[in-house]
Amino acid sequence: MPLSRRDFLLAGTAAGATIGVGVLVPLGFVLADDDDANGATGASLATFPRARVGSVSSLGVGDAQFFDYPYEGTPNVLVKLGERVPGGVGPDNDIVAYSNLCTHMGCPITTYEADSHTLGPCPCHFSSFDLSRDGIVGFGQATQNLARILLEVDGDGIYALGVYRLIYGHADNLAGEDLVVVSEGV
Ligand code: FES
Repeated sequence: MPLSRRDFLLAGTAAGATIGVGVLVPLGFVLADDDDANGATGASLATFPRARVGSVSSLGVGDAQFFDYPYEGTPNVLVKLGERVPGGVGPDNDIVAYSNLCTHMGCPITTYEADSHTLGPCPCHFSSFDLSRDGIVGFGQATQNLARILLEVDGDGIYALGVYRLIYGHADNLAGEDLVVVSEGV
């Protein structure tokens, strides 16, 4: 059952939650060596309630698993690259997640080429993105990196904590209504 943003704000206030909707922190606070190669401005990270989105033990090298976050119907892809990358999590620092909404016109991309770490080609106009290089555009009409999901690993669980860069179609990452329920069962 979706938790509305308003409900979370109220619950978070009552419970003294340390991670809340609406928190904006400088990018460098979390991804110190992140560098938006396309020169996007307004670097900031929007944090949301922690949600379990995968398991270390069930994510093999080259796997791509899809999940909604931070809102129901907002798709993302979780991958284990097989090589250490900045901001990667897990025992090998190689697990990353990105919005799989193409930054050109928002088409969902569900094709992942593990050998080249490429998400794409986009089914609409063939853009592709390199998930080992902060979601940079590798080919096509898109001009901006994919929105990136901030992750952490706790035991065997992989958790999403927030989103860096705008989710396609949002003028504000915090403007959605139906947050993904925090799940412990993935
Ligand atoms: S929507 Fe993906 S390339 Fe146009």
